[in-house]
Amino acid sequence: MSETKTALVTGANKGIGYEIATGLGALGYRVGVGARDGARREAAVEKLRAAGADAFGVPLDVTGDRSVTAAAELVERRSGRLDVLVNNAGVSGETGPGWAQDPTTLDLDVVRAVVETNVIGVIRVTNAMLPLLRRSASPRIVNVSSSVASLTRQSDPDTEVGPVMAAYAPSKSFLNAVTVQYARQLAGTGILVNAACPGLVATDFTGFQGPRTPEQGAATALRLATLPDDGPTGSFFEDGGAIPW
Ligand SMILES: NC(=O)c1ccc[n+]([C@@H]2O[C@H](COP(=O)([O-])OP(=O)(O)OC[C@H]3O[C@@H](n4cnc5c(N)ncnc54)[C@H](OP(=O)(O)O)[C@@H]3O)[C@@H](O)[C@H]2O)c1
Repeated sequence: MSETKTALVTGANKGIGYEIATGLGALGYRVGVGARDGARREAAVEKLRAAGADAFGVPLDVTGDRSVTAAAELVERRSGRLDVLVNNAGVSGETGPGWAQDPTTLDLDVVRAVVETNVIGVIRVTNAMLPLLRRSASPRIVNVSSSVASLTRQSDPDTEVGPVMAAYAPSKSFLNAVTVQYARQLAGTGILVNAACPGLVATDFTGFQGPRTPEQGAATALRLATLPDDGPTGSFFEDGGAIPW
């Protein structure tokens, strides 16, 4: 079995996903750049290669069964196994002024679209990649979540949690709940499954507003992607430590 570890990052053409790919490349991983748009994907692969990373493009729309199946086949052809899967691709869904999503007037199609990408997409990709992850000596799955998923923080009037986001925030709570179920199911297999919050990061996602850089936003996901074998599973972290559910 090759000593070079292989990682796949979804939504790696820009933002936090690109920086996670950069970080894994710098650590010596062969990095699959999962992205749905061909031109954006190839531009990211070229940039990563120019920086010295062993990167390859993986056409991947997390909402499509055929796309995800083809992505798993491509990773298998390239590397024969997968050591790290970072489920980073995510959408906020349409928002009103100040990023708000008012639950009382919410367009149900927005809810469906957000759950389709942020939750069902993660399950679809994870299950397609699991046979390849099971071939790794130290497989890791990182789900990029958000601290807005924390029901503890959302229901604490003394904690600043930003605007009401009735589609996006619950989609990440759903993702966290799914993360815990995977961790339970895969306990004892060596596959560690955790959720990461990048903090508030200046990317397309936030209209480039936010105090953190994409590189800073990638840090927790990188830590969870490279956990030792006795590391945690079924947990939810930000830079400062565990986040309450
Ligand atoms: N930025 C923040 O402050 C913040 C805070 C907490 C959590 N997060 C989470 O961090 C993750 C990355 O966000 P970001 O800030 O880096 O946002 P971003 O710059 O908008 O990047 C999102 C990435 O996801 C991809 N994507 C969206 N839908 C996809 C699909 N169906 N299939 C494949 N790829 C898809 C996008 O691809 P395209 O270029 O093709 O659209 C893009 O590569 C998300 O899960 C987000 O929820 C972000």
